[in-house]
Amino acid sequence: MKALVLAGGIGSRLRPITHTFAKQLLPIANKPVLFYGLESIRDAGIREVGIVVGDTTAKEIEAAVGDGSEFGLEVTYIFQQEPRGLAHAVIISRDYLGDDDFVMYLGDNFVIGGISDFVDRFRREGPQAQVMLTKVTDPQAFGVAELGEDGAIVGVEEKPQHPTGDLVLIGVYAFDSTVHQAVLEIKPSRRNELEITDAIQWLIDHGHRVDPMVTSGYWRDAGSVHDILAVNRFVLEGIEPAVAGEVDAVSELIGHVVVEEGAVVADSKIVGPVVLGAGSVVRGSFVGPFTSIDRDCVVIDSEIEHSIVLRGAHIESVARLEQSLIGRETRVVATQDVSKTHRFILGDHNNVQVGR
Ligand code: DAU
Repeated sequence: MKALVLAGGIGSRLRPITHTFAKQLLPIANKPVLFYGLESIRDAGIREVGIVVGDTTAKEIEAAVGDGSEFGLEVTYIFQQEPRGLAHAVIISRDYLGDDDFVMYLGDNFVIGGISDFVDRFRREGPQAQVMLTKVTDPQAFGVAELGEDGAIVGVEEKPQHPTGDLVLIGVYAFDSTVHQAVLEIKPSRRNELEITDAIQWLIDHGHRVDPMVTSGYWRDAGSVHDILAVNRFVLEGIEPAVAGEVDAVSELIGHVVVEEGAVVADSKIVGPVVLGAGSVVRGSFVGPFTSIDRDCVVIDSEIEHSIVLRGAHIESVARLEQSLIGRETRVVATQDVSKTHRFILGDHNNVQVGR
């Protein structure tokens, strides 16, 4: 059995970060979301992994994951010219997959508890396809599945305007080689993508067995800032405190706080759960719960909580930052100016919220 991890696409809902950064590499407790997926695949006993990458993601994902040996995996990269849909990604991966069974895993999905039970069940039961479903409050944002009275799937529909229920498809699927016929038979959707949901519907319509596995475990698709912060919060809730860096005598660490090697905390209060990445400095500041600060960041005379700060960012003299996602090498600095003037140097698609 192989795995196909989808890490192409353009991440439009996460602009501007995704102009220059693969959304699958956004750090959750300082570890890229994609790495959690790769670890689950390995833990399910799969070694061979094809990763679909696109124009904006290829370079960084290849640099981060390499040949996969650090994860105990053998990784092959499959280049998708344009993000033409999840079923299109299967079409271009045909040579790599051959006739093997495979798990398809969406690289921006975060599934707590892993996929071992899911994979074991597929191996045991041997359907043509198996999907993972969960209940959500906003089904119209996902692929929605309708189950019959006997619990079998009757239909699936991608982002319907009027959902028939609240059970949606999580981004983990298992297929045998029958899917290769299905993905060639379907037509592009309203949003002009070849949808995997349409391929699944094709399998159902042609009498193939598609098994649902309903889970109530934690799952999020890290597609928006709100979701990324929620996943980060969830993962931080489970961290164990560990201090490998330097914390001076006047600083206070409360709750579960990780201070990685080479990080410095001076004259500050940190209320966990918080992770502070290697080489970062927090001075004269308050870092509040559910905050991840990546490597080589600087936080001086500021307050920040419930936020994610990416590598190399610099935050200085900022009264309070909350629920923020700060990109790499970004500077957020308050000036001495007494007037209420703000000065910004912003690129396209930024999202700035200032107090009135
Ligand atoms: O997260 C679960 C949802 O994922 C399912 O409920 C939907 O049925 C499914 O279509 C998918 O919806 P999204 O609209 O959230 O998919 P997104 O475009 O975000 O792509 C998911 C991953 O696949 C992401 O890592 C980018 C990658 N991708 C996407 C496309 C369209 C590719 O590698 N190639 C592509 O062509």
